[in-house]
Amino acid sequence: MRISVIGLGYLGAVHAASMAKLGHDVVGVDVDAAKVDALAAGTPPFYEPGLGELLTEVSATGRLQVTTDLSAVRGAQVHFVCVGTPQRADGYAADLTYVDAAIQNLTAHLSAGEIVVGKSTVPVGTAERLAEVVRRAVPGAHLAWNPEFLREGFAVQDTLSPDRIVYGVPGGEAAVTVTAALDAVYEAPLSTGIPRIVSDLPTAELVKVAANSFLATKISFINAMAELCEVAGADVTQLADAIGHDARIGRRFLNAGLGFGGGCLPKDIRAFMARADELGAGEAVAFLGEVDAINIRRRVRMVELAREVLDGSITGKRVTVLGASFKPDSDDVRDSPALDVAARLSELGAVVTVHDPQAIDNARAKQPRLHYERDLEAALAGADAVLLLTEWRQYRDLDPERVGTLVAQRTILDGRNALSRTAWTDAGWQYRALGRR
Ligand code: UDX
Repeated sequence: MRISVIGLGYLGAVHAASMAKLGHDVVGVDVDAAKVDALAAGTPPFYEPGLGELLTEVSATGRLQVTTDLSAVRGAQVHFVCVGTPQRADGYAADLTYVDAAIQNLTAHLSAGEIVVGKSTVPVGTAERLAEVVRRAVPGAHLAWNPEFLREGFAVQDTLSPDRIVYGVPGGEAAVTVTAALDAVYEAPLSTGIPRIVSDLPTAELVKVAANSFLATKISFINAMAELCEVAGADVTQLADAIGHDARIGRRFLNAGLGFGGGCLPKDIRAFMARADELGAGEAVAFLGEVDAINIRRRVRMVELAREVLDGSITGKRVTVLGASFKPDSDDVRDSPALDVAARLSELGAVVTVHDPQAIDNARAKQPRLHYERDLEAALAGADAVLLLTEWRQYRDLDPERVGTLVAQRTILDGRNALSRTAWTDAGWQYRALGRR
């Protein structure tokens, strides 16, 4: 099929390359010329494991074209809209400027029979509204919503082999046309038995925010238990293992620590609360306010813990922060808990050095006043306390003996419960973690 992808960020770039890998002819469009140039040269514009190899593979087939010229989408049978929906500056609601503009601009190049497919996360009701925009501008063209569930760090795998594929389709005869077109797009993954759910537009929009709300709630639940463990002298990692053995609960997403961040979970639960309020159903998701509050309290607690181990005063102390991205295997620093804690410590007078394997450039752009160090051993040198805030593999594999020869004080705060407490205490370290004695 001939497919267009509008917006080539973490979602769109991976989607465009993956669609080409599935055998489709793809044109990707973005307003950012630097991003387009990088992709045209087969280089990922951000860090995502496996994307470089995928781009090299599909570039050789000639099936992926990228451009800043929106008119290049002409003739595509299916147009995927993958632009961002960040939190609005003036409140919790989602900023729909980019989605609205993308679809409005797209209609100038659209023909009857073509299908616009939204993948961006939007407040429920948006798709019905945009379907009307498309129908009015181009009679015979349709709009569907096909939410994306990819995780950064696993984006290629999640796109090519998702847990499920959801289509939100319009009512009436268009439902058949749209479903058939999407079945053709996803023929290869569907043939492997991946479940497909066809729903109306509002259900598809809600599936995405409901999934992210559940995941955020699960993380905040275990972090609330961590708060209890801290005051009761219990151990949240053992608690998570024990409850996680119950298949109804499950151990995944029960890692207590500094909590969730990134470009999705925080803004999606806030936009959900804002939209529910508009619909008069705010009470139904009021608990998400608590989920958000628990999450932010972990960052505050981390700073308190740093103060405790630094003998009650942070001012002038040398603190090494390991990790700036919101999660390992990503260079994304949007709402990163690690970078937030680093900034809070710096504001309180600590001399903070931040290390990250991939996210330093993005972190510097967001927090230019922090000190960054690309060499891990140089970053650790002379530290009064080391804070592990994003659990990259290379931090989990650190040798406590070796690190002990570099720092000023053998004090480590494990913000992700990612290290072996025994290994570090045996090497003479003071080891403290969130949710553990
Ligand atoms: C999330 C959803 O998982 C994905 O389905 C959706 O499409 C986009 O949002 P992502 O933001 O890439 O994906 O990251 P995810 O792996 O979900 O982690 C989110 C945050 O939660 C990270 O900051 C991570 O460190 C934190 N986390 C995750 C925990 O604190 N504990 C856990 O047990 C799991």
